[in-house]
Amino acid sequence: MTNPLVSATVTSPITEAYSWIAGRSFPRDRPLIDVSQAVPGYPPPSALTDDLATALGDPALSQYGPVLGVPELREALAANISRAYGTPMAAHHVAITAGCNQAFTLAVAALCGAGDEVILPVPYYFNHDMWLGMTGVVARYLPCGPDMLPDVEQAEALVGDRTRAITLVTPNNPTGRVYPPALIHSFFELAKRRGIRLILDETYRDFRPDTEPAHPLFDDPDWADVVVHLHSFSKVFSITGYRVGGLATHPDLLAEIDKIADCLTICPSRPAQHAALFGLRHLGDWVESNRLLMNRRVAAFRLAIDAEQANIEIAAAGAYFAYVRHPLPEPSATVARRLVDEQNVLALAGSMFGPGQEDSLRLAFANLDESEMPELAGRLARFFA
Ligand SMILES: Cc1ncc(COP(=O)(O)O)c(C=O)c1O
Repeated sequence: MTNPLVSATVTSPITEAYSWIAGRSFPRDRPLIDVSQAVPGYPPPSALTDDLATALGDPALSQYGPVLGVPELREALAANISRAYGTPMAAHHVAITAGCNQAFTLAVAALCGAGDEVILPVPYYFNHDMWLGMTGVVARYLPCGPDMLPDVEQAEALVGDRTRAITLVTPNNPTGRVYPPALIHSFFELAKRRGIRLILDETYRDFRPDTEPAHPLFDDPDWADVVVHLHSFSKVFSITGYRVGGLATHPDLLAEIDKIADCLTICPSRPAQHAALFGLRHLGDWVESNRLLMNRRVAAFRLAIDAEQANIEIAAAGAYFAYVRHPLPEPSATVARRLVDEQNVLALAGSMFGPGQEDSLRLAFANLDESEMPELAGRLARFFA
């Protein structure tokens, strides 16, 4: 007998997608184009890895540390948030976690018991939905409009006695949509008015088209009563395997999160925290160059789809992802399966991101160089012709 809530939860879509190509080899003239999992296509800079290699000689890095992260990194992330959002953030509002996924699970575990509800725009980031389901928290789905934005009035209609939070992801996974600051603010106002939290996953914030503050929420004197801001170091420093992220919220909530994190990880990885601190202190220019690179990749993707007249509609694209509508009547999982079988393009099916998504696919174009976009678009054009 296993936990029925866990058994009822889907296998990770990434694991599933990779099972489609298990044991397959791909010809040299038509290699696999993998736009399934979002991973930066470049390694961290050698300055970061060299520094880490030297630092590993320090015995402190092999020992447990504070549950919510080393003070230097909490301070550095607070300073980084202060700069990025143009408003002071104090280090006691900030904690370090074993990645942004863990930050989400910790926040939900601290806020919700079984039977409580969290509002989740659809299409959703599948790990959010999986975690809610496995812990008995009810996901109340909020379908996005054709512009891939959630509507605040529709959200308000879903708020009930058991609602504890609304989760937004911006720039969004899976759609790539960057939410306008005014929309984020209206969700903040809703959460504040109804006495619930706004969990804001900003994993891709360093890949937005501009460097203006993503939203004005931290300016509000009551922000910490409402906002749980989630951060990831994975993509920005290209260290997805190190497992380090963070969150910013009210210190009282952090005190609850501390208890859960203590049981789960005891402390975030010390070497990973060292690397993240190095990144915050030294990699500003590198981060900016990758922001520009990713924005060029979005533009190249759009251009290539246009040029090839691929028979798909880009519903949204930005940061790491494009979310596209396909014209076929088959379920999206069948389409994705055939796409990799016939064109050697591995993409994720819309159905992996929630109900009503059968006409969609997610393409994590960030994995590809600009020069590879025409080949991707050409294969899509042939497939959907
Ligand atoms: C929206 C979103 N949140 C969180 C994560 C996971 O981030 P981390 O590697 O920091 O756990 C991802 C990774 O794909 C993501 O897309």
